[in-house]
Amino acid sequence: MEYTSLGHSGLKVSRVSLGTMNFGTSGGVGSCDEAEARRIVDVFTDAGGNVIDTADTYTGGQSEEIVGRAIKNRRDTVVLATKAFLPQGPGPNDTGLSRAHLTRALEASLRRLGTDHIDLYQCHQWDRGTPIEETMATLDGFVRSGKVRYIGCSNFTASQIVEAQWAAARAGGTPFISLQPQYSLLARDIEAEVLPVCERHGLGTLVWSPLGGGVLAGRYTRGVVPEERSRMGRLMASPSPKARAWAGAFLTERNLGIADEVIRIATALGGTPTAVALAWVRRRPGVTSVIIGPRTAAQLTGSLAGFTLDLPPEETARLDEISGSAGRVPVAG
Ligand SMILES: NC(=O)c1ccc[n+]([C@@H]2O[C@H](COP(=O)([O-])OP(=O)(O)OC[C@H]3O[C@@H](n4cnc5c(N)ncnc54)[C@H](OP(=O)(O)O)[C@@H]3O)[C@@H](O)[C@H]2O)c1
Repeated sequence: MEYTSLGHSGLKVSRVSLGTMNFGTSGGVGSCDEAEARRIVDVFTDAGGNVIDTADTYTGGQSEEIVGRAIKNRRDTVVLATKAFLPQGPGPNDTGLSRAHLTRALEASLRRLGTDHIDLYQCHQWDRGTPIEETMATLDGFVRSGKVRYIGCSNFTASQIVEAQWAAARAGGTPFISLQPQYSLLARDIEAEVLPVCERHGLGTLVWSPLGGGVLAGRYTRGVVPEERSRMGRLMASPSPKARAWAGAFLTERNLGIADEVIRIATALGGTPTAVALAWVRRRPGVTSVIIGPRTAAQLTGSLAGFTLDLPPEETARLDEISGSAGRVPVAG
């Protein structure tokens, strides 16, 4: 396993991180029971992986509880990352990045995780309803108290990252060391502005949905209803319109076309589509660690094997071309 520093910090993280959004069976996209989740954690840490990513919102808190129990006997070797923002109740202060909500959210995460500190505490998304100065001062207080070691953000735009870092600097407080953005052959928007801003402002990246939720693993075929147990099948059967829309956003003609090319390359190289998709993303400039999201230990083993594949330059160029960068940095002249 390779390790590297996360952003402008001394924290060493594995190039592969374990995402635990599938852990648990109570709501969300979760469909991995505790026994399987614990096997996944064992395989991951035995392979040398150290970052485990969860969130208060995953499977209604079950993911954090399972992770907490699974890492109890190896707490000090794990870089435990969680997030806050999304609603934890019906009240106006049960959500967001205010001091009121974050203070309670942190205590609840610590309780579910069964630990006295979180290594990387991340803002799940930007909060339009809270001054960023309040959020950064609150997070700085968490670091000074010892309950949090490092702080990061997720899904922030380039200008939101700059605002946050400047707010921390003005106050002489703790800056973010990481961003958690979506990044894969299906979603390359961050290349134009977000990745350059991360580099300038000292943020490393932990990228999510590297397989496009399974689309790039070649799991879906045009005109065939997704299997019930699959990620897209579960999302499509969800009572939540947001979940169903998420499946629709992944299963587009464009995305299935990119998946076709990934499958073609995998066949030519004698590998799996998963390995090809992961090989592309892990070599992209600006990527510190790739968060994989296995549902089974067998999937994890398959994904880890994928991290040993190096794509030939012509296949990389072909994938670059068909997936296209979504943004363009304007140039003078
Ligand atoms: N910050 C955020 O807003 C945000 C958002 C999303 C995710 N995340 C984080 O990123 C992590 C990864 O995201 P993700 O779960 O969407 O990642 P992903 O790797 O794009 O998708 C995971 C899905 O792909 C399929 N899969 C995984 N490994 C496979 C393999 N080896 N072979 C075949 N299929 C495979 C599984 O689908 P089936 O279940 O159908 O088998 C699995 O549920 C999450 O766990 C979470 O920690 C963060």
